[in-house]
Amino acid sequence: MDQLDRRTLLRRAGVLAGTGVLAGLAGCDPERAGDGQAGQAVTTAGQAATSGGQGAAGGWAGVRSQFELDPGKRHFAAFVLASHPRPVAEAVERHRRGLQADTDGYLEDHGQRLDRQARTAAADYLGGERGQVAFTRSTTDGLGLLYGGLRLRAGQEVVATTHDFYSTHEALRLRAERTGARLRRITLYEDPAAVTTGRLVAAVRRGLGPRTRVLALTWVHSGTGVKLPLAEICAAVADHNRGRAPADRVLVCADAVHALGVEPEAVPDLGCDFLVAGCHKWLFGPRGTGVVWGRREAWAEVTGTIPSFSGAGIGAWIEGRAPAGPRSVLFEPGGYHAYEHRWALAEAFRFHLDLGKRAVADRTRVLATRLKDGLAGIPGVRLVTPRDPELSAGIVCLEVGGRGPGELVADLRRQGILASATPYAEPYLRLGPSIVTGEEDVDAAVAAIRGLA
Ligand SMILES: Cc1ncc(COP(=O)(O)O)c(C=O)c1O
Repeated sequence: MDQLDRRTLLRRAGVLAGTGVLAGLAGCDPERAGDGQAGQAVTTAGQAATSGGQGAAGGWAGVRSQFELDPGKRHFAAFVLASHPRPVAEAVERHRRGLQADTDGYLEDHGQRLDRQARTAAADYLGGERGQVAFTRSTTDGLGLLYGGLRLRAGQEVVATTHDFYSTHEALRLRAERTGARLRRITLYEDPAAVTTGRLVAAVRRGLGPRTRVLALTWVHSGTGVKLPLAEICAAVADHNRGRAPADRVLVCADAVHALGVEPEAVPDLGCDFLVAGCHKWLFGPRGTGVVWGRREAWAEVTGTIPSFSGAGIGAWIEGRAPAGPRSVLFEPGGYHAYEHRWALAEAFRFHLDLGKRAVADRTRVLATRLKDGLAGIPGVRLVTPRDPELSAGIVCLEVGGRGPGELVADLRRQGILASATPYAEPYLRLGPSIVTGEEDVDAAVAAIRGLA
């Protein structure tokens, strides 16, 4: 590689990773770097429909109208892979046009600013600092990288639960296959509809052993709709960790994909060490985007798997030394990306911030409760998801008269109601009321399911 190529690559690394390679080489901590003009060019997402975090000024119908979803259908599976609202779609299109016209020029002129805007918006939404977040392409990406890269010392084990999705179990199985890591799974409940906070926390406490280093959880179970009391579980783990050496403490890692975009808590307040999510489900962000959030000290426990395209990584390589820099930066997978999607994360996070995290959470809760109340009165329907909104989120799972969920999904689709079947050994029919559904959709779904029971 000649000198010019190196310089270009180095500059590009700074641009793309948003870390500023020159700052990186000068020893600046990009986590603490000022925002500059970050955020300035982000359109006020959801402007037309919302009023500054106070919910939907144009009503929830106004929010719904920001999506290009087929208005002739009722979208209860929108969370499986998101359609995104207008401000996000416009940002994707704007960046796509720029990249198509002059890829190099657009990256050079705008890359660093746009990257920083997306990270700033993510930090504003999640809570904490920009440098605590690494961008990925999906939840699965994040889980694979995290469980593949977490440091385990001799004899330490990972405890997962029987309720986690394939992506967690497979990431851990691959880790064990590669390194011989010790894995164990614990069951937190038998009957999802009957869970209580006390019993869930007690099951976690019982499941921890003296050599447990990692507790792998899923905040909202996509197979049952159970929402774990994550803050209470983290408090119990903190109790367990008291008096233990830092290297022996249990790290709590959560797949939060069905909570991100629904649950309003600031992530640092939960007490977990890592939170992993895709942004293309309940957040209604660009497809192929995700985040890993880590507690500052916890990031020290993970190494990257895919070379980062950061100044810290490439700069060190050029200078012939080992990379030194924030672990979140070195963890973030490099290579060139679908930047039109990644940069539009700024608008996706702002869309929710403008609506208000609490307003979105309340709206989801109101619709899910209405759905559960309606279903509960139908003979032949068994609600799998807890009725208690403290122990459930947007996902509502059910059984209908012993019929297979695939068949039910097809029947509902014929009536214009889009639902999904849970991809687990024990499958259920699953509906996800959200900001793209309304009361009339919920009532229509209840009536249709009554007809199928
Ligand atoms: C709990 C859970 N985690 C992860 C995933 C995968 O998400 P992603 O497409 O972001 O990898 C799913 C379903 O798609 C899921 O239900």
